[in-house]
Amino acid sequence: MPISHSRTVPEDAQGARSLVEALRVNGDRLWQTHLEIAKIGAIAGGGSNRLALTDDDRQARDLFVDWCREAGCTVRIDQMGNIFARRAGSDEHLPAVIAGSHLDTQPTGGIFDGVYGVLAALEVIRALNDAGVSTRHPIEAIVWSNEEGVRFSPAVIGSGVWAGAHDLADAHSRTDVDGVTFGQALADIGYLGDVACAPFPIRAAFEAHIEQGPILENAENTIGVVTAVQGIRWFDIILNGRSCHAGSTPMEVRRDPVMALATILDAVYRLAAEHAPNARVTVGRLNAEPGAYNTVPQRVVASLDLRHPDEATLEQLSAKVAEIVTACCASHDVDGQLRDELGHNPVAFDPISIEAVQAAADQLGYKSMRMVSGAAHDTMHVAQHAPAAMIFVPCEGGVSHHPDEMATAEDLEAGCNVLLHAMLRFAEPI
Ligand code: GLV
Ligand code: MN
Ligand code: MN
Repeated sequence: MPISHSRTVPEDAQGARSLVEALRVNGDRLWQTHLEIAKIGAIAGGGSNRLALTDDDRQARDLFVDWCREAGCTVRIDQMGNIFARRAGSDEHLPAVIAGSHLDTQPTGGIFDGVYGVLAALEVIRALNDAGVSTRHPIEAIVWSNEEGVRFSPAVIGSGVWAGAHDLADAHSRTDVDGVTFGQALADIGYLGDVACAPFPIRAAFEAHIEQGPILENAENTIGVVTAVQGIRWFDIILNGRSCHAGSTPMEVRRDPVMALATILDAVYRLAAEHAPNARVTVGRLNAEPGAYNTVPQRVVASLDLRHPDEATLEQLSAKVAEIVTACCASHDVDGQLRDELGHNPVAFDPISIEAVQAAADQLGYKSMRMVSGAAHDTMHVAQHAPAAMIFVPCEGGVSHHPDEMATAEDLEAGCNVLLHAMLRFAEPI
């Protein structure tokens, strides 16, 4: 689908220039909406546990939809439960300028990861309403389903199906640990929409997000102008051995999949160290069966999250992990499988959209720097179909995916002002 997109950052429309330049979001309101949504799925320590498509996710979605309707938006829900809240443009035939992120969280997540990008998009719409500013292009605030990939794997699958990177039927058939399918869970919370989950005409796409790392804070910058997202692979390491008695079976005759896993992980962590500082390896999920103190396991499954900003290096690392699994399984007489669960090559964002973020940060007087995202984001998928870029704001100590995740109201406001002005450069205020 052709993208209408001029080759320079558009200037604000002449007639409305001074009003538009003076426009700012309401930082207090933005902060209060975070606190309001954080009540849903609140956990001890001040964080959030709002797994995708749970009743808590439904409540947060309902609140967002109510707020959007109050702001005069029309709301569509697609077949993946992605929510699109649209503020009409004066010319509804023009492609939309969109912004969004996710409302689902990790099991011990913070209150900003994802939520900020959704609420910042809503705040842009509210600020335009307050100022009585219309735009030629429609503006949309979006919630992407199941960004985190905790209850249903893989991550970023709502935007992934939208972008054509995943099959809709396969996504609907994904199950949680209780065997509930994604499609059933969507229907259960009332978010199995009938709008086709597919790209539509988009002029520019943005996502505001906390950085989830320490770079901005250490450099005392307020805004990260995100130019790219590093590549990511998820694997399941599945090892099958033979269960036996823990006390009576000599070590040397065992076919113990956990012994094999120990050598695999040692080699994989050494591999990451050899490719420091850019390679990242995480084993976040381990399951040994049958799961008794006194039985050598029959089977162990470990998740592996592997990341690198360079595509060729990520490929090499993935191939090396496969070699390590094969070699370690052979030496422990264990059957091993390395199953692909998710794969994204690094994504470079659109230079003109990046420039719009930079120009907005400069115009607003915020200290900024260019950076590559260490985390995955829905905008990786959106960028395959629309000019896109992201805006980062600092989070305290770089902490994220933890209840201690914290960002200041001032930084959130600054990032939202950048979002507003980056969007306005494409939305054509009138
Ligand atoms: C998203 O949180 C990711 O895994 O990067
Ligand atoms: Mn996120
Ligand atoms: Mn996250």
